[in-house]
Amino acid sequence: MKELQFRRHRRLRQTANLRAMVRETHLHVEDLIYPIFVVEGEQVKQEVASMPGVYQLSLDYLNDEIAEAVELGIKSVIVFGVPKEKDEVGSQAYCEHGIVQQAIRQMKANYPELVVIADTCLCEYTSHGHCGVVENEQVLNDPSLELLVKTAVSQAKAGADIIAPSNMMDGFVAAIRQGLDEAGFAHVPIMSYAIKYASAFYGPFRDAANSAPQFGDRKTYQMDPANRLEAFREAESDVREGADFLMVKPALAYLDIIRDMKNHFHLPLVAYNVSGEYSMIKAAAQNGWIDEKAIVLEMLTGMKRAGADLILTYFAKDVARWLKEK
Ligand code: PBG
Repeated sequence: MKELQFRRHRRLRQTANLRAMVRETHLHVEDLIYPIFVVEGEQVKQEVASMPGVYQLSLDYLNDEIAEAVELGIKSVIVFGVPKEKDEVGSQAYCEHGIVQQAIRQMKANYPELVVIADTCLCEYTSHGHCGVVENEQVLNDPSLELLVKTAVSQAKAGADIIAPSNMMDGFVAAIRQGLDEAGFAHVPIMSYAIKYASAFYGPFRDAANSAPQFGDRKTYQMDPANRLEAFREAESDVREGADFLMVKPALAYLDIIRDMKNHFHLPLVAYNVSGEYSMIKAAAQNGWIDEKAIVLEMLTGMKRAGADLILTYFAKDVARWLKEK
């Protein structure tokens, strides 16, 4: 009988060491960006109900949190502020003594090596919960840019290493780049949330940051989840305007977009593993339905395989711990 002709793929899967030798994608602790929520007040360590293991922290608890992350090898954090007072124009976003500005100063004083990224948006600071200036229930583009620039400059002044604008107004990279340059911060990079979809996966974050819109939704500024070409248009303009990093958000349902961006642009690419992606896994794990560690590592490896260079994830400390154990 003539021998069957076929290829033996299983040859390279026989042992753990052999599999490790031919593994194409690796997660490193350097890939991780850890999000932190800071609140005003003292002795606040409030767990976010929809995000077990994620806390709103007051500044007196911040050092312990950072110490733990740094000890685990995490190189970078992104900080979100939850102010006490909100108003129509989000003035706490660009106040010199705002909660985020204080947090940045404190982190940089205690951990000068830590790369501190400032999320630059207004929704956590506005009474209506929208990411810009509102008039007659419309979110106005250009007036919002002015406030965003003020926010970015105040964060850079406080010592932020990277400015990460997330409000999705047109021209936000151009405006912030110019504002930073004029204020003497030409050296501060911009990590643009270039490709941000209007996603239901942000639900738990809005609990964490008290930032749900009080009327309407964000569909006039965030992108339609059905669109792919629009992602190219958004990324093209941000690259032209001077972005130093591009971000795709959310990540899990948008791995195709991550791959597209990786293939077409040559900036470091960040995937935002958002709150809803975190909460779904936590809920299933707490029910004993899934193996949390295996699922998280598989998910994040998938994001890297799709083309992400960096991953912003609430699982950062867990992943850093698991990588250490390995
Ligand atoms: C601010 C902002 C949001 C997230 C990050 N920055 C919320 C939103 O657009 O409503 C979501 C992050 C997450 O879900 O983890 N605009």
